[in-house]
Amino acid sequence: MIDDIKAQHEKLGNEVTRIITEYVSTLDSRPVASEATPALIEEMFDEEFPETGSSIDDILARFRNEIARHAMTISSPRYFGQFNPAPLPIGVWADALASTLNQNAGAWRNGPTSAIIETRVVRWLCDLLGYGPESFGVLASGGSEANLLALKCARDAANQNIKQRGVRVAAGDLVIYASEQCHFSIEKSADILGLGRELLRKIPTDDRFHIRVDALEQTIANDRKAGLKPCCIVGVAGATSTGVIDPLERLAEIARENGCWYHVDAAYGGTLAFSGKHRAKLNGLSLADSITFDPHKWMFVPFECGATLVRGGAGVLRESFDSSPEYLNEDRGGADVQFDFFRYGQLGSRRFMSLKLWMALKFMGRQGYAQTVDRQIALVEYLAQRIDGLHDFARISPVETAVVCFKYLPESYREAEPALQDSLQQRVQQYIERSGKAWLTTTVLHGRRAFRVNINSFLTEQRHVDDLLELLQHAGREVLTTS
Ligand SMILES: Cc1ncc(COP(=O)(O)O)c(C=O)c1O
Repeated sequence: MIDDIKAQHEKLGNEVTRIITEYVSTLDSRPVASEATPALIEEMFDEEFPETGSSIDDILARFRNEIARHAMTISSPRYFGQFNPAPLPIGVWADALASTLNQNAGAWRNGPTSAIIETRVVRWLCDLLGYGPESFGVLASGGSEANLLALKCARDAANQNIKQRGVRVAAGDLVIYASEQCHFSIEKSADILGLGRELLRKIPTDDRFHIRVDALEQTIANDRKAGLKPCCIVGVAGATSTGVIDPLERLAEIARENGCWYHVDAAYGGTLAFSGKHRAKLNGLSLADSITFDPHKWMFVPFECGATLVRGGAGVLRESFDSSPEYLNEDRGGADVQFDFFRYGQLGSRRFMSLKLWMALKFMGRQGYAQTVDRQIALVEYLAQRIDGLHDFARISPVETAVVCFKYLPESYREAEPALQDSLQQRVQQYIERSGKAWLTTTVLHGRRAFRVNINSFLTEQRHVDDLLELLQHAGREVLTTS
């Protein structure tokens, strides 16, 4: 039996290494987005339930010819899409090693080294973001789960009885405040936590897409007058659409003045902390009661790997999430209970996520991350500068991280109806997507559509940015001639 498993691993190891190395050697040339429609891929996998097993060769052939072929080439140096990074090779293989051990990182006894390594990487992340020695945290599947865990702590801090008796016991409805640019997971969390989506106040942003502090203060005052209770202010460090950073210190003051929890969603922007050059943009982050930080965004750790960090320490998370099921509660002398990560979040069985994060940090070091982050921001600054010099394009957002937003606005469209200008951006985006030569997204800012470019592949060089600009100009001309 064991010999058989060993042989399977040897075969898979050789074959999979070949597939991976072939794949990465084509990253610069393969189409970024597949031309396949959902129907085509659906047809490919429209198959009967497998009654008998297939050979490894057949399964891997399907992976190579169908799954990989039509996958989005996230790691391409020409992928300028969402916060989806090219994964570090050490992270890819760390996942294989984690699966080999298949530790259950929920309880210490089922994953002794995973628990200690999780404790270690959480410590490193807290130190990186400027939290003190009391602080603690828990790894999560990503920013959405991390935001939910943090907002649960905020809700429970507002009233300790809610956990047992439900939100109905809160004196006055609890309100969350965040910029209208906040990630959708904040809204979902308000719903899941029983506060209701309506009681997430989406505060307008200024012309650089930062939360408007005057509007926030006014909204809080109005809510107080109406008998509602401010529960939490959420700041964003690296907004999903624009990458910009809210005035974190000012938000901390407002939260303090109103006696409410302060959470910062630094899922993307937290990585700036590695950079001596850009770290000051995060001033005020360490004043937050909780922080969301996703290594699977700008630290090039493969999905999934997010984190909720809390300034007040392990007790804050235990207060919100601890539970003591009989079968996990045997007397082990007490020394290990603090390493039971199921006590700090929602999940029971958990992956050994800390392994890839630990390996990535060991491999890159602070300096490796700083260099990469600085280089990617410099590339986006270069792109912004070139956009500013082009007659037919208009920049919409400042560059604070590795994101920039802009529009294609040729002379003939400058006075056009907003809807026409908006659809022009979408048509250009679709043209580029269909070409397979690059991929970028559009987003809506202050009600109007714009391109959004994020450099999140450490393989992207200046020549790729130049190619993107040429492609945008070409796509623009093509779309104009066919309309
Ligand atoms: C600012 C921010 N917060 C949270 C999230 C959610 O992260 P995830 O997709 O890992 O759940 C995102 C996703 O892009 C994000 O941009």
